[in-house]
Amino acid sequence: MRTLSILILLIFSPQPTFQQEPTVCIIGSGIGGSSLAHFLRQYSSKNWHPRILMFERNGVVGGRMATVTISGQTFEAGASILHPKNYHTVNFTKLLNLKPKDPPSSEDSTAFGIWDGSKFVFKTISVSSTVPFVQKIVSLANSVLMVLRYGLSLLRMESFTESAVDKFLKYYESFETRPVFESVDEMLKWAGLFNLTARSLEEELIDARLSPLLMQELVTIITRINYGQSLSISGLAGAVSLAGSGGGLWAVEGGNWQMAAGLINCSDVALHLHEEIESISYLREYYELNSTKGNSYTCQITVVATPLDELNLHFSPPISIPERKLQHTHATFVRGALNPAYFGLDGVSKIPELVATIEDPDLPFTCISVLKQHDENDFTYKIFSRKPMTDTLLDDIFSVRKETIRINWGAYPHYKAPEVFAPFILDGRHLYYVNAFENAASTMETSAVAAENVARLILSRFFSKPSVTSLNLKTSSDAREELHLDL
Ligand SMILES: Cc1cc2nc3c(=O)[nH]c(=O)nc-3n(C[C@H](O)[C@H](O)[C@H](O)COP(=O)(O)OP(=O)(O)OC[C@H]3O[C@@H](n4cnc5c(N)ncnc54)[C@H](O)[C@@H]3O)c2cc1C
Ligand SMILES: *[C@@H]1O[C@H](CO)[C@@H](O)[C@H](O)[C@H]1NC(C)=O
Ligand SMILES: *[C@@H]1O[C@H](CO)[C@@H](O)[C@H](O)[C@H]1NC(C)=O
Ligand SMILES: *[C@@H]1O[C@H](CO)[C@@H](O)[C@H](O)[C@H]1NC(C)=O
Ligand SMILES: *[C@@H]1O[C@H](CO)[C@@H](O)[C@H](O)[C@H]1NC(C)=O
Repeated sequence: MRTLSILILLIFSPQPTFQQEPTVCIIGSGIGGSSLAHFLRQYSSKNWHPRILMFERNGVVGGRMATVTISGQTFEAGASILHPKNYHTVNFTKLLNLKPKDPPSSEDSTAFGIWDGSKFVFKTISVSSTVPFVQKIVSLANSVLMVLRYGLSLLRMESFTESAVDKFLKYYESFETRPVFESVDEMLKWAGLFNLTARSLEEELIDARLSPLLMQELVTIITRINYGQSLSISGLAGAVSLAGSGGGLWAVEGGNWQMAAGLINCSDVALHLHEEIESISYLREYYELNSTKGNSYTCQITVVATPLDELNLHFSPPISIPERKLQHTHATFVRGALNPAYFGLDGVSKIPELVATIEDPDLPFTCISVLKQHDENDFTYKIFSRKPMTDTLLDDIFSVRKETIRINWGAYPHYKAPEVFAPFILDGRHLYYVNAFENAASTMETSAVAAENVARLILSRFFSKPSVTSLNLKTSSDAREELHLDL
């Protein structure tokens, strides 16, 4: 009798003091790492409160969400626009009391010109007016211009994009209908998106019966602006690009990076800035992470929330993932004025707000857009290019250049259909890789969607392993029950 009650007491007693809470270590403080921390907290029961350590080699959080300050004004330097159906980032913005705003005009308007290196092959009308009626007439006139040039193919392009966006919305379904995915392949197949990663955008659009002119011009300028690449990117990356050129686009006022800052702040994370992880070693019961500061950390769960492609991160035992190249995008910010003569025009005001380009290896830039007009002859511009913009080149393109800032981004994967995906679980244990999903498409929202799945994957796998469960919870069946409710 006595033995029995002791047993019962042992089984149902609160956590003994020797039990240690597990530590989750996250490498990277971008939207991937920060939303992972957020979803881990949101989805785990109150009885499970792991320590979360986050490592960021930079002195600021946000990664590829970053701002640049040029002559005292701040602009997005990396990820800049969000789609109205990017529901996680919509929710983060609300949750964190951040303010959504319209992106700079040229990033969300029809005022553009298509430059082929010697002339504008297409130009929309641009009238700087704040009168809504005038704006409406202008945008209507531009729609007519576009229909005249590209015809019905425009509708086919729209329905191609919409169908992909609709499939993507499945990732917001509730836990009852949406499984936890162990691999990117499985995740994409479930939503009906996998096939789009197996073929190039060009192949997909030919099947969708888009005209060659629309593909060479409008579609190409969009994939070049969003991914710095041509129609050879996968159909899915292409559809995501096209979705990022529609209406209703938005950004976070003051900078998208604040989403990462806010999520980290709300998720009880021990943030280690200026600390780069150099090695991850699996030592039977845990991972040992060593940093450039000479520190060692012990983690039961480790999550890589950054692309591994250009990193000097040593894994022991080694891991093997498919080779992937990053596309580098050089973002150059200039305060000054473009040189109309370069474009064969006789006034700065005749240069479109967005100069986009077709695919031609001789073109020295991908696009030039006005971020802000200060007065008639004074602008702030953003230029994207595949190679650095030299001073000589800039002196050709600009007649006035007061300030120049250059950023070289390891921006997104170099897409190549058929895509081959790295696993979410790198070692079959508790080493996870959020950015395996980036071969499907690279956006702030897709990082959050991938992180949400990885958070569920961690919780479901961690609790199904009795040996690890005993670390922190009363009984494994208790734990499973609570998680079952949450997941
Ligand atoms: C120029 C440009 C324009 C873009 N435009 C858009 C857009 O308009 N809309 C959109 O949705 N997306 C856009 N993107 C893509 C978007 O920025 C990314 O998909 C997204 O921000 C990726 O977030 P992440 O958290 O996965 O990675 P990252 O933001 O890259 O975060 C990874 C973090 O990990 C850190 N890190 C790396 N290695 C280590 C280490 N060993 N130890 C510690 N820390 C480490 C890095 O410093 C970085 O802060 C754009 C990207 C670029 C470059
Ligand atoms: C966003 O938040 C609302 C309200 O909290 C919630 O109902 C909805 O499911 C959330 N959307 C996503 C994608 O998580
Ligand atoms: C994807 O392609 C395979 C093989 O080509 C085909 O059998 C399958 O039906 C396709 N799936 C979807 C969702 O289109
Ligand atoms: C961090 O969170 C606290 C509340 O938890 C809030 O008062 C504070 O403003 C937040 N700071 C930032 C930078 O988001
Ligand atoms: C990590 O640091 C520890 C403690 O300094 C050391 O014993 C170990 O060898 C290091 N691991 C690697 C892979 O360098």
